[in-house]
Amino acid sequence: MNKPIRMAVVGVGRIGVFHARHVQELARETGVCDLVAVSDTYGDTASRVAAALQADQATEIHAFNDVSDLAASNAIDAALVASRTEDHERDARVLIDAGCRVLLEKPLTHSLASAEAFVADLNRDPRRKNALMLAFMRRFDAPLLKAKALLEQKAIGNVFKIVSVLEDPIPPPVGYNSAGLLTDMAVHNCDEILWLLGGPLPEYVAAFGSNLYNCTISTVEEDYDDAFLQMWFPGRTIGQVMVSRNHVAGYRNATWIYGDDGVIHVGHFQEDPRKVEVEAYGRDGVIHKESISLRDYGPDVPVFITRFGESYKNELDYFITQCITDAPFSVTHEDGLNAMRVAIAGGEAICDREDTTRV
Ligand SMILES: NC(=O)c1ccc[n+]([C@@H]2O[C@H](COP(=O)([O-])OP(=O)(O)OC[C@H]3O[C@@H](n4cnc5c(N)ncnc54)[C@H](O)[C@@H]3O)[C@@H](O)[C@H]2O)c1
Repeated sequence: MNKPIRMAVVGVGRIGVFHARHVQELARETGVCDLVAVSDTYGDTASRVAAALQADQATEIHAFNDVSDLAASNAIDAALVASRTEDHERDARVLIDAGCRVLLEKPLTHSLASAEAFVADLNRDPRRKNALMLAFMRRFDAPLLKAKALLEQKAIGNVFKIVSVLEDPIPPPVGYNSAGLLTDMAVHNCDEILWLLGGPLPEYVAAFGSNLYNCTISTVEEDYDDAFLQMWFPGRTIGQVMVSRNHVAGYRNATWIYGDDGVIHVGHFQEDPRKVEVEAYGRDGVIHKESISLRDYGPDVPVFITRFGESYKNELDYFITQCITDAPFSVTHEDGLNAMRVAIAGGEAICDREDTTRV
């Protein structure tokens, strides 16, 4: 049996704590990993979270305030980085330079220029090229994987349009660092569409942005609180992304995939947030219909944990498996850069009311 992968979680804020708990669960369930450290630069977060997590395991969890000290400690083989977006690149670089493999939260970095420079540096040598997995959890999500399988079976024929919606019910937490609504939120939808289509990047994008409601209640700095992005792929395929911080009635995630023989729909905004519908319809009616039940993380967790908790655990499980076998990752810094390229092109093209035609 291989030695367990010694893992750290860097950045144990809103999502990092859940990532750390998933490392502990996998350690208990399979013995493939151990949570040996957490690192966080903000106040006493590292020691406070380490103490809370320690109650669930015997192996000591070391607390670091600085990722360089963690990297120099020789205590870890791999790390999950869920720090502030503006710290992603620095944290990932330090860990990769120290020989670790890194599962990095989205977006890859805070700006396109830094993302391009980071990717170029990683690609310069074979070890670094295989060192980073981008945490696009949708690629490990059971309902979306079912949709992808239906697509690959040609259940709805040839695809010509994908619509992907992501809407938050509440503002990001106080102190949250956003690289802009499209880079922070739509990067998920952009990657989802690129992954589902499995082809080249779009050739053109257009986008609209508005400030509607969240901007009046949130202290977090962000360019827009509501946006629409359209991408045109080579040929006749389009992708449409809707992102918003303004869906106060609850977290809404939905994807519609249109083909010349039917449509697939994933996700539904409904009474029970722990159910996701996957349905496909053709000209003669139902092709596929199932309701997938999600794990119950309890009522007091962030909305994205209720919807994607199991997907985060699946991506972590996959990451650790690849670390054990020293195998490459299926989703990398290149995918992180591609999704950013589309989202940021949308940000550059974005129109608000002043740029449009008066009726
Ligand atoms: N994949 C997903 O679905 C998903 C969901 C949420 C967040 N994320 C990503 O994960 C990363 C972390 O997001 P998060 O929601 O955990 O953010 P967060 O703000 O809760 O935590 C991020 C870091 O900021 C620190 N922090 C907390 N409050 C702070 C303050 N007031 N001032 C300075 N620092 C503070 C935390 O200790 C932590 O180190 C981000 O890059 C985000 O894009 C991904």
